[in-house]
Amino acid sequence: MIIGIPKEIMQGENRVSAIPDTIKKFVQDGLEVLVENGAGTGAFYSDELYKAAGAKMIKDVKEIYEKADVILKVKEPLFNEEKNLHEIDMMHKGQYLITFIHPAAPVNHKMVKHMAEKGIIGLTLDGIPRISRAQNMDALTSMSTCAGYKGMIMATDTLAKFVPQMFTAVGMIKPANVLVIGTGVAGLQAVATAKRLGAVVHAADIRPDAREQAQSLGAKIIDLGVPSEVAIGEGGYARHLPKDWLLKEREALRKVVKDMDIIFLSALVPGRLAPTLITEDMVEEMKPGSVIVDISIDQGGNCEITPPGDIEVKYGVSVQGIKNIPGHLPTSSTWMFANNVYNLVKFLTKDGKIELDMNDEIVASILVTYNNEIVHAGAKEAMGLN
Ligand code: NAI
Repeated sequence: MIIGIPKEIMQGENRVSAIPDTIKKFVQDGLEVLVENGAGTGAFYSDELYKAAGAKMIKDVKEIYEKADVILKVKEPLFNEEKNLHEIDMMHKGQYLITFIHPAAPVNHKMVKHMAEKGIIGLTLDGIPRISRAQNMDALTSMSTCAGYKGMIMATDTLAKFVPQMFTAVGMIKPANVLVIGTGVAGLQAVATAKRLGAVVHAADIRPDAREQAQSLGAKIIDLGVPSEVAIGEGGYARHLPKDWLLKEREALRKVVKDMDIIFLSALVPGRLAPTLITEDMVEEMKPGSVIVDISIDQGGNCEITPPGDIEVKYGVSVQGIKNIPGHLPTSSTWMFANNVYNLVKFLTKDGKIELDMNDEIVASILVTYNNEIVHAGAKEAMGLN
């Protein structure tokens, strides 16, 4: 089986889907790996390292799409300006594509239909279930880990103050106050990072388990006053709160936001738009020089005035809606991503070939297109195909 690793073509995307270590493992497993020249440059993995690991370096990406049985990518297929061709149009029937496809998102519907028409077998990484046997394949969790860490670093970098308490010859400087709202994978990493930097960290989440984990990392818990039976839904995930409870939550937060130097927003209910927890008037009440980093921006953001993909100063507060934060940590995020993808390919491969066990929970939840049809439940529902 031949694995193809194209260079990512999205503007500013420095990640890549394989690193020399995972190439070595593919080769040891008896697979052949084709890597586009310069694919790892943005994440500081050179062509020489790929070659030494056993990859065959390819100049023209078309050759990779032509020869590979499996294409591994970080981002969904896009239009390749240099080739004047969409990446899907370089692919062929029966070829596997493993990447983040986000098939339910309306912007991707056309592309998913195109994949089905071409007979491409699409497997999406955002579908990996959060179950223990799939943990080492869970690229979404890996990327949230990166976003939690790097997002907090970005916040502290913007802050015009020291983060830790400082004892100086001219007096004592108080530590910064940080609030993390939504302590799932990303939020917990943000709590841990702020704690390491010496901030006084506060945390809020509607799920008791998430609060407990934040507390064990040293955060002071803000009581949101939302009872567990209202907060927790199917599978133990957070529920989309009814409006009256959401208003109560905002009022609980309003009392504390004005004392914060940094607010880190990472609250999300799976499959929904992110809840609006910080309103414009709450930002107006914050201290000038404070920072809001809203990493839920891809789902609309937790703050009413977060600029998508941008940073703006509003009422003296730096409000940051940077997307693709893991791309700002390209070596580590690539390392995690490449290992997740290797583990997934290994799991799917029997006797040197990918064999999909349709009764397996992991396969069922990642499969997007098969036999020229769209099979992903979320995508079908969003497209009205049921
Ligand atoms: P997660 O599902 O592990 O955590 C979300 C947390 O929010 C849960 O603990 C949940 O209980 C909590 N929550 C839900 N509703 C709430 C409410 N009303 N009030 C308080 N807490 C509430 O999600 P994960 O993986 O940590 O991701 C968090 C966000 O970060 C997502 O929006 C994700 O898309 C985003 N993200 C952004 C990146 C970027 O580059 N901007 C990269 C990776 C993730």
